[in-house]
Amino acid sequence: MDYYINIKRRQAPARPQPVDSEIVLNKKDFIVSRTDLKGYIVYANDYFMEICGYSKDELMGVNHNIIRHPDMPKLIFKVLWDRIKAGEKVFAFVKNLRKDGKFYWVLAEVEPAKKDGKIIGYYSFRVRAPRFALKEISKIYKDLVGAEKTGGMKASEALLNSFLKKKGLTYDEYIQKLFKRGFGFGGFLRGFGSIFR
Ligand SMILES: Cc1cc2nc3c(=O)[nH]c(=O)nc-3n(C[C@H](O)[C@H](O)[C@H](O)COP(=O)(O)O)c2cc1C
Repeated sequence: MDYYINIKRRQAPARPQPVDSEIVLNKKDFIVSRTDLKGYIVYANDYFMEICGYSKDELMGVNHNIIRHPDMPKLIFKVLWDRIKAGEKVFAFVKNLRKDGKFYWVLAEVEPAKKDGKIIGYYSFRVRAPRFALKEISKIYKDLVGAEKTGGMKASEALLNSFLKKKGLTYDEYIQKLFKRGFGFGGFLRGFGSIFR
């Protein structure tokens, strides 16, 4: 995989106005990107560029939040960063904003890239999110965004915790369950990391 180790970081362009129109990923293709330690993009595969609408020149060196969608709760990115900075992988459903303002949903696996045991950057591999899962995920994300607007991150965390407690699941178990039910089998993403490392 060709990537830029010492990328020159630069400001991402202003994000477009979101449009309520969805682009659905192909079943077989996956989106791959790699970032430096601060989340600035150092690699993007062709399918990523095709789906998000930005060219390689536009993506390299800008923060991954270039495709952040306002419907995404801040809490999910906090969970993501806490986990990967601690050296662990994490799975998350993510709604992303394309260059044209349309959106697309993915199930992402994000994990650290390590060299001699030291974290040197991060990877993400994404597949089409199962439709079934999106009904439930959209609802809880909407509630979390609402909680963040009124009570900040604390309120959002409390809401997610009570939601998971009611289900009797941890965050990981919940995501895995939705993924399994959506596809009818589990572990689809398992091993992705080792293939592309
Ligand atoms: C490898 C990697 C992949 C990421 N992929 C995405 C992504 O697809 N969409 C997204 O909104 N944020 C992604 N992020 C998280 C962003 O860096 C950022 O934390 C997030 O967009 C929230 O941005 P903000 O805190 O500036 O609002 C990724 C981070 C890493 C390390």
